[in-house]
Amino acid sequence: MHSLKSFAMFTACIVFTFFISTVSANYLVINEPHLQTQWQNNAVNVVTWQKGVLDGIHGFDVEMARLSQNGLILVARNVPANQKVLNLYMQDVPPGNDYFLIFINSTHGVMHATSPRFEILAPNASPSSENKSASPVAGIPTVTVSGGPNPTAQFATTFPAISSGLRLQVPGLHSVSTLLTFLGLLVGAAWTLSLAS
Ligand SMILES: *[C@@H]1O[C@H](CO)[C@@H](O)[C@H](O)[C@H]1NC(C)=O
Ligand SMILES: *[C@@H]1O[C@H](CO)[C@@H](O)[C@H](O)[C@H]1NC(C)=O
Repeated sequence: MHSLKSFAMFTACIVFTFFISTVSANYLVINEPHLQTQWQNNAVNVVTWQKGVLDGIHGFDVEMARLSQNGLILVARNVPANQKVLNLYMQDVPPGNDYFLIFINSTHGVMHATSPRFEILAPNASPSSENKSASPVAGIPTVTVSGGPNPTAQFATTFPAISSGLRLQVPGLHSVSTLLTFLGLLVGAAWTLSLAS
């Protein structure tokens, strides 16, 4: 009985380690804007993110939304995921403190990440030093976003299609993670049983 328990625990540890490495491979997180960042109107503000190396995400579309209102502001399409920075010039965007960013593939609607809630200030208002946007990054394209949500608007900027030739393919990663998830379920069940007995 005891050996069954330690075997289950040992296996669970291994599977858990694999599971964590699979999860971190799918890691895409928006760092800026962070919670309560105050973006300035008629100025350049900065989006930054980090991602897992083998996550298979080559690019995404950036959209902006508000918690209190319907409608999306379509910011940029096909943003290269490895760029990790995007400069955004806000032009007469309605002020509000309930904006958030969405990184999505709008072709099939798969959402990759959302940012914390942040604020867009009225023109001429200044952010507090602790809520200020990060500084614009040189050598990175600046996308201009004008006005509020407009149902007929297209993406403000479309980056060139991301070439599939440059893609890093990891064959079988998905089947491996499915197998590991399945194994994890089995071990979890075995563990629960052995602890219960
Ligand atoms: C930071 O931003 C939040 C939300 O917009 C605001 O409530 C808070 O007062 C700001 N902090 C300062 C020091 O202005
Ligand atoms: C969105 O998904 C489609 C279909 O999988 C893919 O062809 C396209 O490159 C993706 N968009 C981006 C920006 O990666």
